[in-house]
This record gives sequence, C-alpha cells and structure tokens, in this order.
Amino acid sequence: MLEAKYYDVYKIREDFPILKRKVHGKPLIYFDNAATSQKPQRVIEAIYRYYKEYNANIHRGVHKLAEEATEAFEEARDKVAKFINARYREEVIFVRGTTEAINLVSRAWGDYNVKEGEKILITEMEHHSNIVPWFLLSDRKKSKVEFVKITDEGLLDIQDLNEKLDEKVKLVSLAHSSNVLGTINPVKEISKLSHEKNALFLVDGAQSVPHLKVDVQEIDCDFLAFSGHKMLGPTGIGVLYAKREILEKMEPFLGGGDMIKEVHKWGARWKELPWKYEAGTSNIAGAIGLGEAISYLLSIGMDKIREHEKDITSYTLKRMREIENVKIYGPEDANKKCGIVSFNLGDIHPHDLATLLDEEGIAVRAGHHCAQPLMERLNIPATTRASFYLYNTKEEVDVFIETLKKAQKIFLP
Ligand code: ALA
Repeated sequence: MLEAKYYDVYKIREDFPILKRKVHGKPLIYFDNAATSQKPQRVIEAIYRYYKEYNANIHRGVHKLAEEATEAFEEARDKVAKFINARYREEVIFVRGTTEAINLVSRAWGDYNVKEGEKILITEMEHHSNIVPWFLLSDRKKSKVEFVKITDEGLLDIQDLNEKLDEKVKLVSLAHSSNVLGTINPVKEISKLSHEKNALFLVDGAQSVPHLKVDVQEIDCDFLAFSGHKMLGPTGIGVLYAKREILEKMEPFLGGGDMIKEVHKWGARWKELPWKYEAGTSNIAGAIGLGEAISYLLSIGMDKIREHEKDITSYTLKRMREIENVKIYGPEDANKKCGIVSFNLGDIHPHDLATLLDEEGIAVRAGHHCAQPLMERLNIPATTRASFYLYNTKEEVDVFIETLKKAQKIFLP
C-alpha cells in the first residue's frame, strides 16, 4: 500500500458504499469528482431519515413534523454560514446549484445595476455557467462581457485583468478554481483590485468550496456560488452567498410562495432575508443532506483534504510524465491547482480514451467540460479529465497510468 500521509484514506473509503462496487468486473475507480462527488453513508441516511421520520413542508406548518423539518433546514443554513465564515446566516441563500446562483445574481442584481455599455469582466477559463448568464444580461441591458486572458501555463493573466478592469466594469466574476485546468486563482488579490475600481466581485466556488477552506470574509467577495453535489451532498441544492447589504438592496429572483410577507390586489411585500430569495418549496432534503456533508467534511478537516488531494495530484502529474505523447493542460505544479488533471494522449480522441478507461472501471470525463471558450483558447476540441477527491488513492492512480500506457499501445503503435 502506498502511504497516504494526511489521514487513513482506506478508512474514509469505508464510509462511501458506492466505492465497493465493480464496473465491468473491475473495482470502481472514480476520477470524475469535478462533475459530481460520491456520497458518504451518513449523508444518504440523513436524507432517508428526513423522508422516513419528519417529512413536512417548512416555514408554514405549526405541527410537530413541520417544526422538525424547519429546524433541520435552518440548521443546515447555519452550518453553511459557518463553513464559509459568513457574517450572518441570512447571507446564505439556498438555490439549486452554482448555475442558478449565478443566474440569480445576473437577474436580481444585474438587471437593476448594469446599464448599456457597462461591462461584466470574466475570464477565458470560465465554465459556461459563468458565461451564459452574462450574455443573457447583455441581451437584456445592452451591456458587454469581456474575457481576461490566460497565460500559456493556464494561469490568469493579471496584467490583462488590470488593463481590462476600467470604470465601465460593474462586476468581476470568475472561477476560484478552473474545472478544466484546476488553476487556483488569487481571489483575495482580485477582490481588492475589483473593489478599488468600484466593481463587485463574484467567486464561482463550484470547484473550490468542496476542496479548500474558503472564507468569504477573508476573500471579501460580494458573491460566492457553489453546488452541494460536488461536496458530498445531493444534487439540486446549492448556495448563493452574498453580502447582506447587497441582498437587502436587490429585488427578488423568483416570485411565489414562501418569499412573501403579504400579497394583496394592490401588490405584495417580500419576506426578510434570506427567504426573500427562496420562492416555492425549497429542496428540504437536499439542504439537510448538504448540512450533513459539511459535518462530514469538517470531521476530517478541509486542510487535510487539501493536502491529501495535492499529494494525489502531484503523484499523478509525476507518473504521467512517464508517458510519451501526453499533453497536460494547466499548471503542472499541484500547489497551483485543485485535484484536476486535463490532458490529451497523442491524437486519441478523448471519448475513445474515456471508453477504454471505463472498460477498466475508471470513470473520467471527456469533452469540452462546458468550457468551450477555453477549448478555443487552447486550440483543441476536447480533453480527458481526471479529477480527485478525499477518497482517491495512489493505487488507483497506478491503475490509471497502466491503462493509459495500454491505450498508447493500442491507439498509437
Ligand atoms: N461542472 C461540472 C464539470 O465540470 C459538471 O464536470
């Protein structure tokens, strides 16, 4: 067994029932964590318990079940607020995921604060969910979207950011960590630069919050968006964090039940924060599952998880150098990135490679990873992507490397 330095990874694996399953007769090697993570037993049980023991709607009923469900839902909010070090619990809005969180900002903030000719500054390494909402805003408001360049190493070009960050920029919105390159961006520095130019700052934390300690007060971001399902929680639940003073001034995103104080024929008044932004019945089970996922992550420690993933990533990068014809995209220093390795092997199509890996039980993602402007910048149609989490091991990386060598023999004789 190769040494796992930061915790007993084999003990952790016991908490994830799915990791025991076989795929095509081989033990599952799950390297598609940037797409979604697996769930520990206690998260599955927390969701099961809600439906089995206290399923009820929240904020409405006076009966016992409704009280228990409301308490569990709001407790999950407190856990999220503490996890990201928000000043106030009402700064945490439950949404479906990162995409919805960014769309909420684009609508409920953008529509009222961005005027014709003004700009949203994003980067060449963004996921479509941090591009398309701003294009839609441009269609509505005749505003503009500008892309900060990346360097050939796959880092953000800070000089280009400085040049593009002029008085027309109303918001700088970027990924804390790229879902393709893994690059970790210097968000604290960019937050300061944005504020100096009176622009607000949004962090897409989809690929960072599950893997690093993210502290909204330290970064001083105005918005942070992330998804529960990439951090051991269920799908369909995510978070928009925003500073209270900004949320107070914004208009609602969706209208309907649970977000109103009163409705009359003459109009309506909204509930106070955070419920003003949570129209309709929320994903109650999802929030409870996310709260449990956070408790689980904290029981291990985000610092240890980061160190473990760094170790696995640098081992992978080192072993991939053994293979001829491998082209890795993004920084090749694990300190500069999250546990994501995107690559191409000669001219093997990423889908062929992913199919061959799947035959060995290895799950990876192949394609443009919802980042087509980045693919254009790299001048490629697609990559194969291995992405790691707290339960991955170096033995799994060894099997992955041997399979890549096998692929090379088959496809590149
Ligand atoms: N955003 C997810 C990914 O990068 C789905 O795979």
